[in-house]
Amino acid sequence: MLSFYSKAISPRINFKSIAAFSTLQEQDLKYFRSILEPHEIVTEPSELEKFNTDWMKKYVGYSKLALKPNTSQKVSSILKYCNSKNLKIVPQGGNTGLVGGSVPLKDEIVLSLTNMNKILGFSENLGVVSVEAGCVLDSINQFLLKYGSEVPLDLGAKGSCCIGGNIATNAGGIRFVKFGPFRASILGLEVVLPSGEILNLESEIRKDNTGFDLKQLFIGSEGTLGVITKANILTSKLDKFRQVLFMRADSFEKVLKIHNLIKQYAGKNLAALEYLDEHAYYTVAEQLPQLHKPFAATSDKNKFYVLTELAGSERLESIVESLYQALDENKLIEDCVLSENEAQLKDLWEIRENVSLAATQKGLVFKYDVSLSIEKFNEIIEKVRQRAGSLGDTLGYGHIGDGNLHINVICFDKKQKKQMEEILEPYVLEEISAIKGSISAEHGLGSQKAKFIHLAKDKNTIELMRQVKKIFDPNNILNPGKVIPG
Ligand code: FAD
Ligand code: MLT
Ligand code: ZN
Repeated sequence: MLSFYSKAISPRINFKSIAAFSTLQEQDLKYFRSILEPHEIVTEPSELEKFNTDWMKKYVGYSKLALKPNTSQKVSSILKYCNSKNLKIVPQGGNTGLVGGSVPLKDEIVLSLTNMNKILGFSENLGVVSVEAGCVLDSINQFLLKYGSEVPLDLGAKGSCCIGGNIATNAGGIRFVKFGPFRASILGLEVVLPSGEILNLESEIRKDNTGFDLKQLFIGSEGTLGVITKANILTSKLDKFRQVLFMRADSFEKVLKIHNLIKQYAGKNLAALEYLDEHAYYTVAEQLPQLHKPFAATSDKNKFYVLTELAGSERLESIVESLYQALDENKLIEDCVLSENEAQLKDLWEIRENVSLAATQKGLVFKYDVSLSIEKFNEIIEKVRQRAGSLGDTLGYGHIGDGNLHINVICFDKKQKKQMEEILEPYVLEEISAIKGSISAEHGLGSQKAKFIHLAKDKNTIELMRQVKKIFDPNNILNPGKVIPG
């Protein structure tokens, strides 16, 4: 069966200095020691490494202090103190973010929420789970199993990302096509503001039209407006039946037709609709040979893959059969594998969920998480591939069911990092902006794309965003340099 893998190491990217950062003093440490337990304070350089380095090992800060409070009150005291001393601070959950948002740019203090990991309760009648922000997504789902419920969000990082991070990024993931945006399932939040004020926006009710819905401002704000400490989430019922089909086609035009047929036949049973090109599939096959693969990877780069999951409370055989027949009659697929049990379903998903890891293992990855018309998916991939030339390999994959493409360019020679960056940025984002796509579909802007926000928002909108930031964080202590350029 499958074995586990280790994470790869790629080189660090240095950032230019950011002005007006106060430096941590002994008296600051003294204060933090007076309000926190010793195990909630990390100063040991070897222990700090994981807080300073992102999942891709691409963004690296040099914080000298990570704080891991276990109550909202402690978070409040930390922020109040940092605000009074102009000490900058970076909220961090599972540190699986892919845009450099969760690690310091310089020596900001890291505020890890991982010790706030209590499940506070589940209301069976309302289907609402209340949790602290540091709960790992998977562990909430383990807890919900006995109620036959789940959090309406699923992503490859579910074993390590925290719910606070998921909310702060408004994460998308592989079930978006079924559940819609995560923000729609967040009924309430507790947020600590940079001033230290604990803002109680908690709620378990679904319908509430009483003035501005302030919690929405914090959802997707990537830790720049407040620290999310608690959440009330509307759960979904687990599906009784699930079936995955993994298929291969010999042209992208056929992928579009497959996409349409799947949506037509699956209807409300559509649970996921994902896409990979041969470059992505090949990279997984090459880098993670231990994974169980449905088809041998080929040297013919004109192959494309679609993974779909159908789910529901009734048996799915007849829908799957009709769908397969339609695909076959229209000569759209070369091969198709159908999961026959839970283990096979998991194996098929592992291929798709591990593209990111496989790419990171192969070299330094330049990631572009974009939304655009699905008709243009392969066209933009080919353009980027041509532009990168022999400097790297371009992989195309993503959530085709909701129009979200992941363009990953693997730079083989780390010495050519700068050259590659100049070739790709802002080129890729400008191309997407020109066709009215989104330069960040689900990962956020972080530090990678903050400087390109003008490609996504007009001047007035950016100015309003700055003013909103000023209301909540007048001293710019919270995650400076992220989302909105400094
Ligand atoms: P972190 O990485 O720790 O932080 C992310 C951002 O949120 C940072 O800006 C941070 O400052 C802020 N933040 C964290 N916690 C808080 C808090 N409590 N209060 C305020 N701000 C906070 N993303 C998707 O959208 N869809 C996917 O399909 C997907 N798949 C992934 C697969 C893999 C293998 C990996 C490594 C990542 C994937 N991601 C995906 C990206 C990432 O997992 C998500 O962005 C996730 O929501 C981040 O959660 P986290 O707890 O790791 O947050
Ligand atoms: C995915 O869909 O696999 C994630 O968003 C991670 C990535 O973009 O690589
Ligand atoms: Zn994704």
